[in-house]
Amino acid sequence: MNLSKFERYPLTYGPTPIEYLPRLTEAIGADVEIYAKRDDCNSGLAMGGNKLRKLEYIIPDAISSGADTLVSIGGVQSNHTRMVAATAAKIGMKCVLIQESWVPHDDAVYDRVGNILMTRLMGADARLVDEGFDIGIRKSWKDAMQSVRDSGGIPYAIPAGASVHKFGGLGYVGFAEEVRAQEKEMEIKFDYIIVCCVTGSTQAGMIVGFAHDNRADRVIDIDGSGTPEQLRKQMREIVDNTAEIVELGRTVREDEIVINPDYAYPAYGVPSKETNEAIRLAAKTEAMITDPVYEGKSMQGMIDLAKKGFFTKGAKILYVHLGGVPAINGYSYTYSNG
Ligand SMILES: Cc1ncc(COP(=O)(O)O)c(C=O)c1O
Repeated sequence: MNLSKFERYPLTYGPTPIEYLPRLTEAIGADVEIYAKRDDCNSGLAMGGNKLRKLEYIIPDAISSGADTLVSIGGVQSNHTRMVAATAAKIGMKCVLIQESWVPHDDAVYDRVGNILMTRLMGADARLVDEGFDIGIRKSWKDAMQSVRDSGGIPYAIPAGASVHKFGGLGYVGFAEEVRAQEKEMEIKFDYIIVCCVTGSTQAGMIVGFAHDNRADRVIDIDGSGTPEQLRKQMREIVDNTAEIVELGRTVREDEIVINPDYAYPAYGVPSKETNEAIRLAAKTEAMITDPVYEGKSMQGMIDLAKKGFFTKGAKILYVHLGGVPAINGYSYTYSNG
């Protein structure tokens, strides 16, 4: 496998910490040990998060294309578009963002706070569009590209979640290499890795990265999309493309792509009662804040699977915190009593 041949534009601080979570481990009360990999603390750019690992491998291509405007798409409270806006500000490009109505959620300040507030502060042209949830390529996004061309600019396309991009999976191949090095240092080995996926390239990159030491099937995705078949199809494509360009040397088997669809209810971006309980538990035991769209659902899934005895006894579980906390501000009413 060869990741080092790809150019990387640094947007993060470097390897993110891994920490043991003793009080959460105790509160869950199953025979497992919970650790967290803090990708939510990976950068000083607008509170960071998983997209920066991906963008580090995409930005060199954007710069060499001669573009002057990054164009991307997400929901109103998209973490991804916040990270594209941050990257554009940092490298001195313009930024046009399509922000769709992906979440059936009412909160008086939903389109004013959190991610979109920061996005606007960083100077991005955030265009709100009345379209529902879809992780695929959208017409509104193509129209935005054209509008940049029409005004004399040169757009560079970054798809939703920076996923269906030729280099979208590379950042999380690097994550797997980083975890391997940290395991050596810490003299432990993780039996399971828990991650929340929606557009697919976070887990796809991890799958390719961990396929290198034959444990891709230990990466358990807790789906947050509510459209797991579409996610699997998209992830398969990203896995195959990424495996080919990093020269993994073999095809990833279907059983190495593990997607658990059980916790995405009631809808993308809408927390269930159980999601909220999981968010509260992580906050009260470890002061680790998770959001109702992504990380709260993977927290919920991990807790439930642990309690059900899904993990082997004594297993060391690495919960990957991918960021996303700013969106919680759009749920002020939900958490008005904690
Ligand atoms: C905080 C957070 N967690 C998880 C994900 C899912 O990652 P991916 O879109 O690569 O599947 C995202 C973005 O979609 C995110 O912003």
